[in-house]
Amino acid sequence: MSKGLLILNAAEVVTVSGFSEAPARGKRQSELGVLRDAGVFAKDGRIVAVGASERLRRDHRDDADEIVDACGGVVVPGFVDSHTHLVFAGDRADEWEQRMQGADYLDILRRGGGILSTVKRTRAASAEALLAGARRWARTALEFGTTTLEVKSGYCLDREGELKLLGVARQLAAELPAEVVSTFLGAHVVPPEYKQRREAYVELVIATAREAKERGLAEFFDVFCEREAFDLDETARLCREAKALGYALKLHAEQFTDLGATRLAIELGATSVDHLENVGDDTLTALASAQSPPIAVLLPAVAFHLAQHEHAPGRRLVDSGVPVALATDMNPGSSFTPCMPMAIAIACRTQGLSVAEAVVASTINAAHALGRQRSVGSLEPGKRANLLVCDVPEYRFLGYAFGINPVRTVVVDGKVAASRAH
Ligand code: NIG
Ligand code: FE
Repeated sequence: MSKGLLILNAAEVVTVSGFSEAPARGKRQSELGVLRDAGVFAKDGRIVAVGASERLRRDHRDDADEIVDACGGVVVPGFVDSHTHLVFAGDRADEWEQRMQGADYLDILRRGGGILSTVKRTRAASAEALLAGARRWARTALEFGTTTLEVKSGYCLDREGELKLLGVARQLAAELPAEVVSTFLGAHVVPPEYKQRREAYVELVIATAREAKERGLAEFFDVFCEREAFDLDETARLCREAKALGYALKLHAEQFTDLGATRLAIELGATSVDHLENVGDDTLTALASAQSPPIAVLLPAVAFHLAQHEHAPGRRLVDSGVPVALATDMNPGSSFTPCMPMAIAIACRTQGLSVAEAVVASTINAAHALGRQRSVGSLEPGKRANLLVCDVPEYRFLGYAFGINPVRTVVVDGKVAASRAH
């Protein structure tokens, strides 16, 4: 356990407080709880006090083993990236170039490329090689401020392989300072050997999900509900079984086609619906009228990376009271970035979110999307001391600037986990 850590002289401390029970929605999605000329004191990995720099210096200096001078920068909660496909082998640079020339993502998948080309490479890779790749990306994510990271399986699509990927995620969790949350995505697409036997593949996914749960390898269950992937009936069957096994649910919903995954997610009490680039009006209405809707996890880097004109309707979702989170969707096909500041910058430009809304979406609402709202996502006494000291004069620069790393120091559980010169 770390000892006392005192952070002083921040122009702004963005607390995002008050949403540890229910997510921020509607007008409240922009409530950052900014304190000026402020700091944070943490002890034994937990936040003890957040407040005026002068008072913290007076009250806690003697108890501090380490003092970090924020030098007029901005302190925010560590980012929570609630949607990544971080464990994979190989790359898809060729396909990306074809897509930039107009090739279609689902056409490439139909021809056996796309996700299936990463599956070929990932099946052939050793756990050690996969861990080395995942470690590299997770480290980059951490340097860009991600202190809680979701990791999905989904690039082996057979029993041993999917368990291998979840095992890699577990090893990653053991060696990273950041917290890793695992999701079983055996239902990413149907692998070629099951093409004529889809039902048998659905059964295999359920059996593997059972085994993963028994071995404590995954907390969430996810399905890619889409043309060329799983239809709504298959998705419903998979999700019902997974729920019965004790999984919390996430869905890749309405990315290219509105197939009804969001309505199913509402019915089953899913934790989040992710993507929503092509969500229809009726589905939006259903989401807005649900009593406690799933968190809408938007992945703005995907449309950017695929040079797609359809963007998830972030503005409409916030205005209609649906809690919105942001994530990178880091993967070699549709979003090749692990950087949350990039997701924030794109969301402000393509989804009509204000920077304040995007920051709430990347911290406390994202924590809700992983069921971690009581331990991370805001700077409040008792929570894990996961925070970032950013080299920006005010929080709006987190969306205003892009293609730079605004994060100078990353603190996880009260310890400096990454830092670069001021
Ligand atoms: O979230 N849409 C499905 N799954 C990923 C893409 C994975 C891939 O292209 O390798 C996504 O966009
Ligand atoms: Fe995804």
